[in-house]
Amino acid sequence: MFAESATLRRVKPSATLAAGQKARALRAAGRQIIQLDAGEPDFDTPDNIKEAAIKAIHEGKTKYTDADGIPQLKEAICAKFARENGLTYTPAQVNVSPGGKPVIFNAMIASLNPGDEVIIPTPYWVSYPDMVLIAGGEPVFVPTSAEKGFKVAPADLEMAITPRTRWIILNSPSNPSGAAYTRAELAALAAVLMRHPHVWILTDDMYEHLVFGDFEFFTIAQIEPGLYDRTLTMNGVSKAYSMTGWRIGYAAGPTPLINAMRKVMTQSTSNPCSISQWAAVEALNGTQDFIKPNAKLFEGRRDLVVSMLNQAQGIHCPTPEGAFYVYPSCAGLIGKTAPSGHVIKSDSDFASELLEAEGVSVVFGDAFGLSPFFRISYATSNALLEEACTKIQRFCGSVR
Ligand SMILES: Cc1ncc(COP(=O)(O)O)c(C=O)c1O
Repeated sequence: MFAESATLRRVKPSATLAAGQKARALRAAGRQIIQLDAGEPDFDTPDNIKEAAIKAIHEGKTKYTDADGIPQLKEAICAKFARENGLTYTPAQVNVSPGGKPVIFNAMIASLNPGDEVIIPTPYWVSYPDMVLIAGGEPVFVPTSAEKGFKVAPADLEMAITPRTRWIILNSPSNPSGAAYTRAELAALAAVLMRHPHVWILTDDMYEHLVFGDFEFFTIAQIEPGLYDRTLTMNGVSKAYSMTGWRIGYAAGPTPLINAMRKVMTQSTSNPCSISQWAAVEALNGTQDFIKPNAKLFEGRRDLVVSMLNQAQGIHCPTPEGAFYVYPSCAGLIGKTAPSGHVIKSDSDFASELLEAEGVSVVFGDAFGLSPFFRISYATSNALLEEACTKIQRFCGSVR
């Protein structure tokens, strides 16, 4: 009989992928479902990027490459960090992996020993704790709150640091809350980290280009050069260029860590898809013209969703600075009875009852380590968002 390994038994499957699967199964069974659970932009990959991939195929760039990326993409990544983040890296400091997720995974496998601690503020992106567990480490959670904008307080960070702390993972703008750290907030966290030189920083900047109003994005190594030698600055093309399926993520940091991550890849995935790498070169070096209008479009959707959710009984929805998620509280509905007759005891009950009653699929907050909340991805049309929020209002109004 098959038995999972002891390592894998410590791990949960991704809750966001599970929510999507459940919604798709209901749709296949004939139900009308609006999916607000998916973490990907709804626009197509821009044409110049597709053309670069087609050209790469015609030119026969279809063979193995260096395990952690072609030199041309590493150069493009160095140019991106210099241009957009004021950070100087050489290609020897760059890793390209098959997606942002494997970048983090490779960094954890490359660096963690059993019992090493990784500080993860909650709510977190679903995969961080489980990747730490697979790599043999121990996630250490630091809760934030809606009142504090879902951002970790410097004093709370400092209290969580022990001699076993190996990493802190920062994610701004955040999946699931959309919260993004200002320059001053990052500087305050950097000041704490400067006092603890054994702690490394993994900053997940996947949503860098999705910030709203006059909010300015910063990344921690740029704010505090004293942290440069122990920061892995991670990013990718998935969200900014709508390339989730192409599977290209990247990071830059100290060469010994980058070399260790390459060693992991040489014995596991080998290189990311060669064609996708050439597409990513075009994404980073080509026109960036669609990025700002795109962010503006998402900002309009955020405003629509926040406003409509705040009109739903028992829901409180903060206004996030970026990404394409909101993370509303459903505290006002806990302990009440849904139209099905079931009592809503948790955010997980809230999400299932909402799906059952109105066919709207959201992800419950427990999956992200902070309850009672739920995550909505508003990367879909205004018409669908309006319909979904109307249904959420109706559902909340029917809870007694
Ligand atoms: C915060 C965050 N980091 C990393 C990733 C992974 O991105 P990729 O699809 O490139 O693996 C995601 C995707 O949802 C994300 O939300």
